[in-house]
Amino acid sequence: MDAHQILKAAQSEKYAIGSFNFSTAEILKAIVLAAQKMKSPIIVSTSEKEAEFIGYREAAALVKAWKIATKLPIILNLDHGKSFNTIKKALAAGYDAVHFDGSSLSYVENIQLTKKVVNFAHDFERTFEKRVLVEGELGYLRGTSSLYDQKAEIETEDLTDPEQAKEFAEKTKIDSLAIAIGSAHGIYTQGGEKLHLKKLAKIQETLGGKIFLVLHGGSGIPDTDIKKAIKSGIVKININTEMRVAYKEALEEEIKKNPKETTPYKILEPGLKAVQKVVEKKIKLFGSGDKI
Ligand code: G3H
Ligand code: ZN
Repeated sequence: MDAHQILKAAQSEKYAIGSFNFSTAEILKAIVLAAQKMKSPIIVSTSEKEAEFIGYREAAALVKAWKIATKLPIILNLDHGKSFNTIKKALAAGYDAVHFDGSSLSYVENIQLTKKVVNFAHDFERTFEKRVLVEGELGYLRGTSSLYDQKAEIETEDLTDPEQAKEFAEKTKIDSLAIAIGSAHGIYTQGGEKLHLKKLAKIQETLGGKIFLVLHGGSGIPDTDIKKAIKSGIVKININTEMRVAYKEALEEEIKKNPKETTPYKILEPGLKAVQKVVEKKIKLFGSGDKI
C-alpha cells in the first residue's frame, strides 16, 4: 500500500494515521514495534534537522529494512521541508512522502513554491515509477516540538481560512494539507491549545474531501478533541513532543538508577519502551489499529 492508498482508506473509514518523528535508530524501532503490535499502517517522519542527524539515505535504508522485516506498510515522510533542495534530497534518498512547509512565506510565494514541489514530485514519479505524496501547509503553527512552561498564545489570524485553503489546493494540486486549527507544536504546561472544530468542519466542507487534512502539533491535545477532529475529516496526525518527553524522562531515570551502566543498548532500552508505549496509545486513539 502506498501513502495515497493508506490515507484514502483512513478517510473513507474515518480513522487517522499517526505520523511519528524519529532521529535515531532506536526511536524508529520503537515506532515500528508499536505499529506491528497494533497492526497499524504508520508514517515515520524526520524533520530537516532530524534527517540531517540520522542521514537521509540512512533513514531510508533503515525504514526499508523494517518494511522487509515486518511487512508493514511504513511510509517515510519528510516533515516540514522548508526548501526545494531538501525536498529533492529526501525524494532522491527514497522518501515516500514530503511535506513542504511554505507557511512562513507570503501566500503567493507559498503557492509558487508548493506548486514547484508538486511538479517536481510528479516528474519524479514518472521517471522512477514510484508514487509519492505531497503535503502543503497553510496557516500559522507556532512553536517547535519542545516542552513549554507557558500558555500557547494562538491568534485567530493564525488559523487556516477555508476559502483560501480551497484556492491553495486547486492552484498547487497538493495531495494533503496541513491546516492550523488551534494546535501548536510542543506541549504547553499552562494550556492554550484548543481545536476549532467548526473551522475544521468548514475547511472539510469547502474542500469536499478531495484533499487529505493533516493536524500538526498533535502532542498535548485532549483525546476527546482528537476524536472529534478525526470525525470531522483529519486523516493524518503528527506527534513528536510526547515521544521526546517520554524518551528523555525514561533515559534520565535509567541513568539515575544505574549510574555505572555503560552498555548503550541497556541504557537506551527503557527510552525505546517509553516511546513505544506513547505510539501504541496514539494508534489506539486514532483508530488505525487492526487495519492490516
Ligand atoms: O510535525 C511534527 C508535529 O507537528 C509534531 O507536533 O511536537 O506538538 O507533537 P508535536
Ligand atoms: Zn508539524
